[in-house]
Amino acid sequence: MLPNFPAQVPDDLAPKNRTVQMNDALYDYLVSHSVRESELLTQLRKETAQYHMSRMQISPEVGQFLALLIQLTSPKKLLEIGVFTGYSTLSMAQAMSKDAKLIALEKKQMWLDIACRYIEKAGLSNQVSTVCGKASDSLTSLIKTEKGTFDFVFIDADKANLIEYYHACKLLLRSGGCIAIDNTLWWGNVADEAFIDKDTKIVRELNTLVYQDQDVDVSMLSIGDGLTIIRKK
Ligand SMILES: C[S@@+](CC[C@H](N)C(=O)[O-])C[C@H]1O[C@@H](n2cnc3c(N)ncnc32)[C@H](O)[C@@H]1O
Repeated sequence: MLPNFPAQVPDDLAPKNRTVQMNDALYDYLVSHSVRESELLTQLRKETAQYHMSRMQISPEVGQFLALLIQLTSPKKLLEIGVFTGYSTLSMAQAMSKDAKLIALEKKQMWLDIACRYIEKAGLSNQVSTVCGKASDSLTSLIKTEKGTFDFVFIDADKANLIEYYHACKLLLRSGGCIAIDNTLWWGNVADEAFIDKDTKIVRELNTLVYQDQDVDVSMLSIGDGLTIIRKK
């Protein structure tokens, strides 16, 4: 059954766009008045900048927002899908309490090597474990033994398996737990009909699925490339 959301509202009652338009000057202001990046994160961002895929890295304000969410909710058992060089991993791990553990999934060892170097520098190797391989395989084995035990999940990997990741993470999450999903505005392409590529279609499908999912509460934020925060009821 679909939720009872108003499909149509009269024009004079339609929500107005009050989200501020982000130009470069305003973005610089936001960063210079809110981001308190640790030295290690700055180093990691600089090291990652040399790779042409560096734009895969989450932005500092998103990293800091994830860290704040973690400080606010004190999750003890965390999961990450899509490590890359570890900016999000380190952002979250640095915010975790000493008794919290993070399992981070990534398919490429060369990225994990960089991430692990920084995790070690931060003295967090005993709290963060990385798994190299296809995330679907790791999730399948986690579901066998650890259903309903995770408090916090961050999804930021390939889009091809995004829907599968969402369903798997819902199974792994305890009631009241949180899923954060990156790239849900997908460079703005989700709202532009001209984009009909596979990834854009999957992100749109995911957004509709989450919106209509009665098992969760949801908020889609226009931070970074779009970040959806989900709470399992
Ligand atoms: C957008 S990047 C993650 C960025 C990272 N969260 C950060 O802050 O730097 C996506 C990552 O997912 C990994 N990935 C892609 N497909 C995957 C899969 N099937 N299983 C596991 N990892 C995958 C890629 O190798 C890449 O490192």
